[in-house]
Order: sequence, then C-alpha cells, then structure tokens
Amino acid sequence: MITTPESQASNGMTTITRTINYVKDYDTLSEMAANIVRKEINRSSTSILGLPTGGTPIGMYEKLVKDKSIDWRRVKTFNLDEYVGIDPNHPESYRNFMARHFHNHVNIPKDYIHFPDPMCPEKYDDLIAHSGGIDLLVMGMGSNGHVAFNEPGTDMLSETHITDLKEQTIKDNSRFFNSIDEVPTQAVTMGLRTILGAQKILLLVTGKKKLKVLQKAIWKPDYNIPVSIINNHRKVEILYCD
Ligand code: GLP
Repeated sequence: MITTPESQASNGMTTITRTINYVKDYDTLSEMAANIVRKEINRSSTSILGLPTGGTPIGMYEKLVKDKSIDWRRVKTFNLDEYVGIDPNHPESYRNFMARHFHNHVNIPKDYIHFPDPMCPEKYDDLIAHSGGIDLLVMGMGSNGHVAFNEPGTDMLSETHITDLKEQTIKDNSRFFNSIDEVPTQAVTMGLRTILGAQKILLLVTGKKKLKVLQKAIWKPDYNIPVSIINNHRKVEILYCD
C-alpha cells in the first residue's frame, strides 16, 4: 500500500490534510475496510454504524460476514439511503440488498437495523441522535460525486430528505435492474449534515474515473461535487483502488 498525501483543503479556520490511501486491489481495499469496521466494534460493542449500498462495499460485507468472531448483538446500523417507490420485496431495494449481502448473515437484532422512511424522512435524524449518533459511517461515491443519494447541488445543511435522482445516477444504477425504466427516479437519503454528524467517515472509492472526481473534490471543494464534504470533517479515511 502506498499512502500519498494528496492535498490540503481549507475548512474555515482549520486546514485539513486529506490523504487517499491507494491500495493495490479491490480485495485489499475490502479487507482494510472490514478491518476498520472490526476495530470500531472492538472499541465499543455497542457501536452505531452508518452503512452504504452499491457495488463498492460488497467485498467489505463479504469479509465481515465470513468473520464469525465478530459479535454484532449490540451493534446498531443506519443505512444511508433507500429508493422511493420501490417494492420493499424488489431484489434491488436497498433493504433487500443489505439483507442479501450483510444483515441476513450477522446476529444484529432486527430492531437495531434502520432504513430511512420516505413517509417521514425527518424522523431519521432524530432517531440517529436518540440512539447516540453514528460512530463510524462507511460510504461510497457515485460517478458524479454523490454520496448516499445527495446529488450535486445538495445543501450542506441538509438532513434526511427525499431527492430526485440525476440522470447520470439513474443510468449508473440501471446496471442492477432489467432496464433503465425500472430504476426509481427518487430516493430518501441521509443529508450532508447527517453524514457530517458521524464521528468517523470511511470513504471507499474504486476506478480511475471516480478518482478524478475525488481529487477535484479535495483540491477544489464544490457544492456540485457532494463528496467535497469530506473537507469539512476531521476524521475521514479514504481507501482507493483502480
Ligand atoms: C448508489 C448509492 C450510493 C453509492 C453509489 C455508488 O447511488 N446510493 O450510496 O455510493 O451508488 O455505487 P457503486 O459503488 O456501485 O459505484
């Protein structure tokens, strides 16, 4: 693994050095991500995790569910987002994605598993706060720099809300559906402020195309590249592989 200081970003009074950890391959990225989650649960067995969907974190989930030494009984999870208007039983609903890749394979009590509800998005931030706040939030990044489903232009102060998906996002996510027409056009997502409220953030990024977007966000933070919020948080770890 080569660790390269990428840039310095100005965050009001403080200057934060953002480091991208360039790792040799996807398996290594997944193992390192799983280790960070393990470390968090070893630190506190009652940890509260913010969890992502998408192709990128699948390897991390595979590593975690294989590790039978982790005791998940007191861990709570809050998923970052969910499609709106999708049948919860649809294989590509994020609830189903998580069940398939993670929740069905670990002993987290059902009532400790949370997804934002499109009927009352505003309650999600309260629920997170009442649970004690997110200790570690893992996230991926869309090709247009979206995080969770916070699309370009999302307000930095946003909390959990319903959003219209950008054309690019619908196109990118259509690979999981039979046709592009099946992809929901709306989602409910943690807001940028919700994400920034986590104690620690782990960002997983793969592919040279996304690297360019990430580097731009680090060098020149911009509302139109939502992942730029990493410049506004003190504890962000970034793992990248080609
Ligand atoms: C979706 C999710 C995001 C995820 C993104 C990237 O849009 N809402 O949370 O980061 O996809 O997914 P992938 O890892 O498949 O590129």
